[in-house]
Amino acid sequence: MSAFNTLDDLTPGQRVLVRIDLNSPVEDGEVQDNNRFDRYSETVRELADDDHRVVVMAHQGRPGRDTFVSLEQHAEILSEHVGKPVEFVADTFGDDAQEAIESLEAGEILMLENTRMTDDELPEKSPEEHAESEFVQTLAPLFDAYVNDAYSVAHRAHASTVGFPLALPAYAGRVMQTEYDYNTGVAEKAQEADGQVTMVVGGNKSKDVIGVIDNLGHVVDNFLLGGLPGQLFRRAQGHPIGYDVGDMDLLDDQYEETEETIKDILDEKSDQLELPVDFAYKGEDGERAEIALDDIESKEMEYFDIGHDTIDKYTPIIRESEAIFVKGAVGVFEDDRFGDGTKELLRAIGETDCLSVVGGGDTARSITKYGLDEDDYDHISIAGGAYLNALTGQELVAAQVLIDQADR
Ligand code: 3PG
Repeated sequence: MSAFNTLDDLTPGQRVLVRIDLNSPVEDGEVQDNNRFDRYSETVRELADDDHRVVVMAHQGRPGRDTFVSLEQHAEILSEHVGKPVEFVADTFGDDAQEAIESLEAGEILMLENTRMTDDELPEKSPEEHAESEFVQTLAPLFDAYVNDAYSVAHRAHASTVGFPLALPAYAGRVMQTEYDYNTGVAEKAQEADGQVTMVVGGNKSKDVIGVIDNLGHVVDNFLLGGLPGQLFRRAQGHPIGYDVGDMDLLDDQYEETEETIKDILDEKSDQLELPVDFAYKGEDGERAEIALDDIESKEMEYFDIGHDTIDKYTPIIRESEAIFVKGAVGVFEDDRFGDGTKELLRAIGETDCLSVVGGGDTARSITKYGLDEDDYDHISIAGGAYLNALTGQELVAAQVLIDQADR
């Protein structure tokens, strides 16, 4: 039995406010379709099919970032996935939003503007305080029920995730239900496995994943590093790699923030760490070229993937593991030249008969991109930070509010 009230408990034909998470990569202002649209569209379609008037809330980026854009494109992409029109109103909770909500008919879907465009959304406050905000107090009376499906942002105590469930009867959507049920306790399940537990650690948010090495050190036997963390660990050992080159600004700041932790991990957990021994870069002809770590002499080169010697070093460890977690891609797989590391490690995981959990919104996308079979993995999570919180046993505040409301 689920810890939540779910869509199965919702009487058809109501006015439903549903929070999903379509936070996506944005390239040159263009929102990139990805498997979050596909997964969250299931809940939206189910609600529309049940003749609810469906109003969708979601966010994109954060104020001040290039990815902080309107949800107009999201509504179009979501509509393709749901297979029904998704109207869009460029307003979060003002007159235009209220008018559009009130004119909805049964089975119709409306998307409101980026929740992070209202000042009430982002402050980290208690659910009780958020429930008192103008945002929640204005919108809640227009609805009969609130559905939170946004598992991938359930680690954030924002008005749209923790305020509304106190103001309306609250239910969990299908993604929230599945991801919560699977990810919670999976680390313990891995610990109970007889053999080796391995974690592939990549991506470009080093701070989060490096924290995980610290937190999961007692569960995981081998950490296979790639992506930014792989470069930063090599930098900490004194190699001329992991530095910002040209106008890039990804590495130096993150290194400063994590240097101390990285050095502690290198001191205390070196037996559990596997670091890249070669890297891929853009050769003179623009094609993929590789260089061994020991041959790197200048800091002036940008690297986009682990090399094939590293792949050959990591895959036997994967094949001998009983449980594998993936957090983040080991290379810039979106570019075909630099997808080898991510693809080959995922292929080895898929071929290995072990408990396999792949997380990180973007990483999940690489499975589809490289034609790997989703069924070869036990669970593919579309969440990043929330997945890490679940693995490390930290509370997912928005999921907890739903559970508390269901208990009442
Ligand atoms: C995500 O993409 O992981 C979630 O939407 C959370 O986004 P945030 O880190 O900007 O809060």
